[in-house]
Amino acid sequence: MRVMSGSPWWRNAVIYQVYLRSFADGNGDGTGDIAGLRSRLSHIRSLGVDSIWINPWYRSPLRDGGYDVADYRSIDPRFGTMEEATEMIKEASELGLRTLLDLVPNHTSSVHRWFQEALSSPPGSPPRHRYHFRPGSGTDGTRPPNNWRSVFGGPAWTRVPDGEWYLHLFDASQPDLNWANGDVRAEFREIIRFWLDRGASGFRVDVANALDKDPLYPDVSSEQDHMIIAAEGADHPFWDRDFLHDVVREWRSVVDEYPGAMLIAEAWVSSWERLALYLRPDEYHQAFDFRFMLLPWDPEVMKEAIDTALAGAASVGSVPTWVLSNHDVVRHVTRYGLPSVPDARDWLLDGDRSLLDEEAGLSRGRAATLLMLALPGSAYLYQGEELGLPEVHDLPVEVLDDPVWDRSGHTEKGRDGCRVPIPWSKSGESFGFGSDGSWLPQPEGWGGLSAAAQEGVPGSTLELYRTALEVRRTHLSGDESLEWVESDPTVIAFRRGGDVTVLVNFGQSPIPIPQGRILFSSDDLPDGMLPADSAVWVARAP
Ligand code: NOJ
Repeated sequence: MRVMSGSPWWRNAVIYQVYLRSFADGNGDGTGDIAGLRSRLSHIRSLGVDSIWINPWYRSPLRDGGYDVADYRSIDPRFGTMEEATEMIKEASELGLRTLLDLVPNHTSSVHRWFQEALSSPPGSPPRHRYHFRPGSGTDGTRPPNNWRSVFGGPAWTRVPDGEWYLHLFDASQPDLNWANGDVRAEFREIIRFWLDRGASGFRVDVANALDKDPLYPDVSSEQDHMIIAAEGADHPFWDRDFLHDVVREWRSVVDEYPGAMLIAEAWVSSWERLALYLRPDEYHQAFDFRFMLLPWDPEVMKEAIDTALAGAASVGSVPTWVLSNHDVVRHVTRYGLPSVPDARDWLLDGDRSLLDEEAGLSRGRAATLLMLALPGSAYLYQGEELGLPEVHDLPVEVLDDPVWDRSGHTEKGRDGCRVPIPWSKSGESFGFGSDGSWLPQPEGWGGLSAAAQEGVPGSTLELYRTALEVRRTHLSGDESLEWVESDPTVIAFRRGGDVTVLVNFGQSPIPIPQGRILFSSDDLPDGMLPADSAVWVARAP
């Protein structure tokens, strides 16, 4: 399908995710901030992306990295000021970069004024109705109202001094809002407007699939796992329930008042049939489909996931979104350097370090990038992947900050290893991240991966990303079609726009490259062959 001129910007966009506290530290307190981001906007611009998405920067105790918002209309002082935020959005826009923010509607921080008001109000009062307060179970109410578990581990309920319990699907410092409450609904319409008025181009919506809770609060049955993605259909007591779509329609009507603004859902659902519901014309513009990101380095399952995503998105006139890494998962060059079993997250805790093949992981990660950027739809890059940063798997447990570590009873190491501050320079204090340390320790030798070390170096991962994005713009932006090319089962091969053939070699030996003009490849091509764990883009010979 040819892209119509006037097609919305996001359909083919590449969006760069900024995890602000680990990006660049402008004021030397060890935490990344808006000043640091402003000083590095040129780096993002030089990649050739269309937009940035900034993880929550609102006032927050940072118990969950800012996904515990205390005030949705202010900037956390550690990150800067409102003035700096609006200046940043303006500067980015002058560089041709749109800014997406992170909307966190499922829960507030427990220090949010609403929750504080709820705590000091009696059971049954209107302030309590903005959250999910329930009496406990058991004869004296000392047991939680039901068996729901927090995604981070442990019960999803915490008791307050007057005996009631409140719901938190994440940390106890993140009480869930009640979306059946009129105040909550009105408030978020205004929050959306507040940021769009300040120049934001839309929102990535956090936990978009959990806004509705069954008002009867039934136990989760044994078949209905607590895992986010396990909910099948619309009958789970808190995942992916149908009522939440009413809320989305309200937001969409506000967003539609701002030309070019968009909403993308973080919605972990069981199937494309369910995901497609979020993409109806009056709901989200896009939804993350994380299946591709979760797959091992395997051509068969990856091809299948691509096909499913293309068909699913097409069924609602949308395009897929592709992601390899983000702030919640083990970085992809590390994932691909591990055998598919055990799960990389389990391996972080106490896995056999000799299982990790760093060289293969990097080659595969680079090839996966070429694969992803050749696919129709939009792609989300996570800061540092353009430097080939691996997961920092050996962070000492004393420095771990992710609530998952404690809430899982120290059985899951959590997500800090993909959040280690970016190395900008080859040497010096925190490799150029800031002037006085970094909130998570960077590994020795991190300078060799820094932006400065890779700048202008042919074959570096940084230059690979820049070239890939440039070639994508030149050759792949005018068309949304994909045609599979028959190939060996150890190869993924397809044609885009009738012009570019993409080949990814998952096998052990080099394979021949089709005739044509080689646009670029993820690796050298000895003897004109595509080595194992590599990808190439070839244009039809003129
Ligand atoms: C998803 C976010 O990506 C993650 O970082 C956060 O912990 C949870 N939602 C809870 O807000």
